[in-house]
Amino acid sequence: MAEKSRTIRDVLVGAVDALKKSGIPTPRLDAEVLLSRLLGVGRTKLFVLSNTNLPDERVEDFQRLIDRRRRGEPAAYIVGSKEFWSLPFAVTPDVLIPRPETEILVGEVLRTCRTFSLDEPDIIEVGTGSGAVGVALARELPGARIVATDISPGALEVAERNASLNGVRERISFLCGDLFGPISEKFDIIVSNPPYIPEADFSRLPLGVRGFEPFVALVGGPEGTEFQKLLIKEAPGCLKERGWLLMEIGDGQEKQVEDLLGTEGVYCDVGFTADYAGLLRVVRARRKE
Ligand SMILES: C[S@@+](CC[C@H](N)C(=O)[O-])C[C@H]1O[C@@H](n2cnc3c(N)ncnc32)[C@H](O)[C@@H]1O
Repeated sequence: MAEKSRTIRDVLVGAVDALKKSGIPTPRLDAEVLLSRLLGVGRTKLFVLSNTNLPDERVEDFQRLIDRRRRGEPAAYIVGSKEFWSLPFAVTPDVLIPRPETEILVGEVLRTCRTFSLDEPDIIEVGTGSGAVGVALARELPGARIVATDISPGALEVAERNASLNGVRERISFLCGDLFGPISEKFDIIVSNPPYIPEADFSRLPLGVRGFEPFVALVGGPEGTEFQKLLIKEAPGCLKERGWLLMEIGDGQEKQVEDLLGTEGVYCDVGFTADYAGLLRVVRARRKE
């Protein structure tokens, strides 16, 4: 990987080898993503160009990107973007990199709107981060009025940028504050992918997560469920009658979350949806009349 003036194929082979040695779990994908971004071409084009020589400066630029990845920095932060719901999202260290499993949360909101004929729903997303969930919903639900909040001003800047990038800036109001602090109206749907990692688990997270993603986006208090507890407690005051609360949950948190919902005594129709690994990932509950 250190040699210069080599073909794209040689450079990629060296990078994949270097990433493998550093224990990076997806070496080929990451090397291709970084090189295709550097050269401004799609990943498939790399194969068409595989016998092309790369100029020395390009090899050095690529080496620098690979070195960053070897030190654990996520590829999405290095290239500054991540796809979610087949849409492009800018990502910076101010925001959590949107995860594929969060698409299940989006899918469940859409299913809820379809099933209960909510054609023009009022929706609030609490903790919008990159804006991935709110923006995907705005794209899918042209009649929806959407509010997106976050406690992090840096995250909100990125979310607003992503709403513009995806042509829905006019459809989403972005508000900075703690939980429901910035709002006074009521909603048909409250949706959130909250921070839900227990404090004690933080140090066991992969380096790429604990060393680079925002702590405030990851850790949900000593138990991990503190944010969810607050959402469950405060949501009924911000939901219309028969409105829905939908949240992403962490591995094995379903019992605790179900108990928290039960304790409030104001929710009914509680249900969970599993992710592709079979883990219960999304909870949905309805405010009683
Ligand atoms: C797990 S991230 C989810 C980001 C994005 N919605 C997604 O799914 O990719 C949680 C988000 O909640 C925000 N957050 C943390 N505590 C908050 C609070 N008390 N009030 C509002 N937002 C909060 C964080 O800044 C972070 O952006």
